[in-house]
Amino acid sequence: RQRKVLMAGNWKMNPASIKEAREMAALLASSLRTIAQDKPGFDVEVVVIPPSPFLHIVADVLSGTVAKIGAQDVHPESKGAFTGEVSTGMLMSMGVSYVLAGHSERRNLFNESDAVVNKKVKAVLASGLSPILCIGESKEEYESGLVKDVCSKQLREGLVGVSAEDLQEKLVIAYEPVWAIGTGLTATPAIAQSVHSYIRSVIKEMYSPEVANAVRIQYGGSVTPESVDELMTCPDIDGCLVGGASLVAEKFSRIFSYQ
Ligand code: G3H
Repeated sequence: RQRKVLMAGNWKMNPASIKEAREMAALLASSLRTIAQDKPGFDVEVVVIPPSPFLHIVADVLSGTVAKIGAQDVHPESKGAFTGEVSTGMLMSMGVSYVLAGHSERRNLFNESDAVVNKKVKAVLASGLSPILCIGESKEEYESGLVKDVCSKQLREGLVGVSAEDLQEKLVIAYEPVWAIGTGLTATPAIAQSVHSYIRSVIKEMYSPEVANAVRIQYGGSVTPESVDELMTCPDIDGCLVGGASLVAEKFSRIFSYQ
């Protein structure tokens, strides 16, 4: 695989306190230091995505390690009367490098449309940060054989106005079948690989073979230390977006040091 592997841990709305966030980050920092010592060739990009109020402390505790920091969401406008929202500039000033856009929980629980997701993607890119554009079908869509239609639509609408250069160098795609998120049901490596390969074919059609070959596509949905090794043998899976298992430093460490 030519593409650099990206392993991201999305903490979602966890943990309950800043004290716990600090402890979780400290455990991760210590594990990253051990890996840096024991595996000098370790070349995986590790990203930790805590809730906004904990970004600062997590960035602080992880500084000096290879881990980068991500945010779970952002508002497309740069400032103003948007009570409760957070801007790309605020995220940058806290040391954030990646921002999730269109996570299925944002789409389903907060009614985010493809058009809103696209605005967020563009705002993140305009600020110089890297968006992780999340796409994926629901259980009903999966059962009705609509995987390709749904992924293609979310991809095409999420990428409106995104340049080939940004896609090649900054934007990451995360394929997360909604039926596999937090359910313990991981898509089999064969299912995941076939959708990833399809996503790459859509990018090839929209952009070029070079862009399709360069773009990184993560898999997300109940990834665990037990399932990661096999998923990572798939040629079109360039890393994982991990939810539940990323809350336990030992599990997340095992995931990003997959074999
Ligand atoms: O962002 C992460 C995904 O939604 C996966 O969550 O690993 O708990 O299934 P999960």
